Order: sequence, then structure tokens, then C-alpha cells
Amino acid sequence: MAKIGILYIATGRYITFWNEFYKRCEKFFCNDHQKQYFLFTDANNVSVKNNVKIIQHKYLGWPEETLMRFDTFLKVENDLQKMDYIYFFNANLYPVRKIKGEEVFPSFEQQIMVTLHPAFYNMPRKIFTYENNEKSSAYVPFPLGEYYVCGGFNGGIAEYYLKLINDLDKAVKNDLKNGIIAVWHDESHLNRYILDRNPLILSAKYVIPEVIGFNQKNLKSLKPKMILIDKMSPICGGHDYMRGLTDKRIKNNFINRFKWWLHKKRTNKKNG
Ligand code: GAL
Repeated sequence: MAKIGILYIATGRYITFWNEFYKRCEKFFCNDHQKQYFLFTDANNVSVKNNVKIIQHKYLGWPEETLMRFDTFLKVENDLQKMDYIYFFNANLYPVRKIKGEEVFPSFEQQIMVTLHPAFYNMPRKIFTYENNEKSSAYVPFPLGEYYVCGGFNGGIAEYYLKLINDLDKAVKNDLKNGIIAVWHDESHLNRYILDRNPLILSAKYVIPEVIGFNQKNLKSLKPKMILIDKMSPICGGHDYMRGLTDKRIKNNFINRFKWWLHKKRTNKKNG
């Protein structure tokens, strides 16, 4: 049985995703192993089980919240050193089917695990959104790069993932010193990092958008293992609620869930 550290950032209204994520992660993700969650949040009324450590974390604003995530993770570096594997999950990512350790544990040669970005899955190199400022530490010159991975789900053997966290924290801060923020923040740095490495690469079925507006042609043959919940979903209360533009949330009741289901069905059909 391996010890798995789970990194999860939920500031502001993103805390709405937490309960459902935790429930599903406990049910579906690496069930034969021991999980320790690290929940970074500014919420102060979350009650959690024994395997969740809450780390008070002030919302940094956008895009700093995503860009500075490696710095955020380093707050628990000592705890992470006690883990065998570490995984980061985007707040709106929900497991929907069993995911076994063997699927996500990289070998010692692979060291880390990354996931293909759903929008660029089976798409040509020329549309990959790598950082193209040669002054950035995340720069990927054409034609390098075989696949484009997403920032939302990655991890690996603790020792190597901690190295990634430390290396990318330095890369991001080095860019900031030079007045540069890479085009897709942490994701751009991750894509640069794996260029010279040989990670375990998971298919986009671990990050399927709930409503597929793009690349449906390539995604529809994949049976999702996790889905990215849309901010319009009644689960999270709607777009304006998530953004803090209104305090009125869309109720997560049967009627709204049914309307949402109909909307998804129509949109996914139209784009398919
Ligand atoms: C978008 C996604 C962004 C970023 C971008 C890369 O679909 O929402 O977070 O990954 O693709 O082009």
C-alpha cells in the first residue's frame, strides 16, 4: 500500500467543489492505497475527515493563484517528503470511474505523470499553445514538442514530483524577475519541463470537459475517467456565483440538474 499525497487548491467559491471531489476521490481514486489530502483554502468553516490537512491560503488573484501554485505546494514540502506519490487535481475535476494506482504511477524511469490536454488531444503540433517568448523559462521553440499536456492533473513519484515543484517554482520566479508571465502560466512551464524528460503520459480521458465545446471529434471515443465540471453546472452554482458576481447560486436541485443534463446533451450533440 502506497502513501499518496493529494494537492488541492480551493480558494474563494472554488471551495464549493471540495465535498463532491473528496467523496468521489475516496470512492474512485487509488482505493487500495492510503490517501492524504492537502487542502489549500481561505475558507474557515470546512469540516474535514482525518486524512485531510487544511492549509490556510489567501486567494492570490488571477493568474497568480495558478502561476504561483508551486510556491503554494512548497508550504507542505516536509509533509510531502513522507509520501510515496503526489498528485495535483484541479478543483473542478471529478473522478467518475475507478482509477487504479497502476494507471497513474509512473515507473522509476518515467518519474512523473502528465495528462494530455483535451483541447489538443490528437491535434497537430502547430496549434499547441506553448510559450513562444524566447526570454521565458517556459519557451518551447518550434518544432520541438510532441504533445501538449494540461496543468489540471499531474503527479508522480514523490521525490521526482518534489523536484518538479522546486524546479518550476524557480522557473516561474525567474520569469517574474524578468517581467514575464508565460502564456498559460504553470501549464506552460510544465510543458517546457517535460520536453527533456520521458514521463508517463495519460490520455485526455482523465480530463474530459463536462460540456465539450472543442475537439469533440477526437474526444468522443474516450470513456471518461474524470470530468472537468463546468462553472454553469448546478453543482457549483453557476458562472456568476463562482466568479463572485452574485451571491445567488443556481440551486442544485432535481429540476436544475435535469435542465443542465438537457443542455449538455444538446451542446455535445451539436459539436459532435
Ligand atoms: C484552455 C484551458 C486553459 C489552457 C488553454 C491552453 O482550454 O481552459 O486553462 O489550458 O486551454 O491553450
